[in-house]
Amino acid sequence: MSLITIQNASRFFDDARRGTQVKALDDVSLSVNRNEFLCLLGPSGCGKSTLLNMIAGFDKPSRGTVTVGGRPVTAPGVDRGVVFQQPTLMPWLTVWENVAFHLTMRGASKAERRKKAQHYVDMVGLRGFENHFPSELSGGMNQRVGIARALLMNPEVILMDEPFGALDEQTKMDMHAELVRIWRESQSTIVFVTHGIEESLALGTHIAVMSARPGRIRELIEVDLPRPRDSTSPRFNDYKRHILSLLRPEPADAVHA
Ligand SMILES: Nc1ncnc2c1ncn2[C@@H]1O[C@H](COP(=O)(O)OP(=O)(O)OP(=O)(O)O)[C@@H](O)[C@H]1O
Ligand SMILES: [Mg+2]
Repeated sequence: MSLITIQNASRFFDDARRGTQVKALDDVSLSVNRNEFLCLLGPSGCGKSTLLNMIAGFDKPSRGTVTVGGRPVTAPGVDRGVVFQQPTLMPWLTVWENVAFHLTMRGASKAERRKKAQHYVDMVGLRGFENHFPSELSGGMNQRVGIARALLMNPEVILMDEPFGALDEQTKMDMHAELVRIWRESQSTIVFVTHGIEESLALGTHIAVMSARPGRIRELIEVDLPRPRDSTSPRFNDYKRHILSLLRPEPADAVHA
């Protein structure tokens, strides 16, 4: 049974100033099984964040349904951890305090918070930086703190919205390897938003390729490549070529362009 099910979801936004409506998502149906790593890939403005936010419970579809674990999503929940494009850390808290932030909200003791935080600090490779402040870390290290914070709640689903968008190529590749390792170790299910074809092929077990606005799923691709993925291999390039062809404007769009 699928863990996340999106059925015929559409999302319209009212544009009050112009008296019109923006159709951000159009009749999207998608299901994600436990332990899958799904990448949502598409051009800017195609509705990737909108779709992710509906799974997270920050937003609701205008039509259709979104369920996680068989329950309709009505609000954010601890079963879904979110990692944003910017890590949104508290600058006045240390690394471990940031990682354990949600436990503070639940009234956990300092000893318990410290112990749990250390486990996830280690998992994301930040041992030795527990007592640093976010301003003392690099962008990639801050992003790892955000990932550790999301993992600590042991969520069933990790939702990531272009988390490595601001990183240089080398750091991004290191983070990819790290994330794949974490995904395997924690046996979680990941939905990862990106506009990078290579990034989606480096990470995903599946890639949902979306078309430009209004966002639709053009194709759900199962990525059958061994890990670690070799971005120079002929098969990697076959996938890339296919995805590029899907991302080209549809014939109907070309006529109206
Ligand atoms: N709160 C909102 N109010 C009005 N329009 C919105 C709102 N959120 C998104 N939209 C519109 O919905 C469309 C999809 O936006 P969304 O942020 O989901 O795209 P995206 O694929 O994540 O793009 P990007 O890659 O640039 O982050 C856009 O046209 C955007 O203008
Ligand atoms: Mg977005």
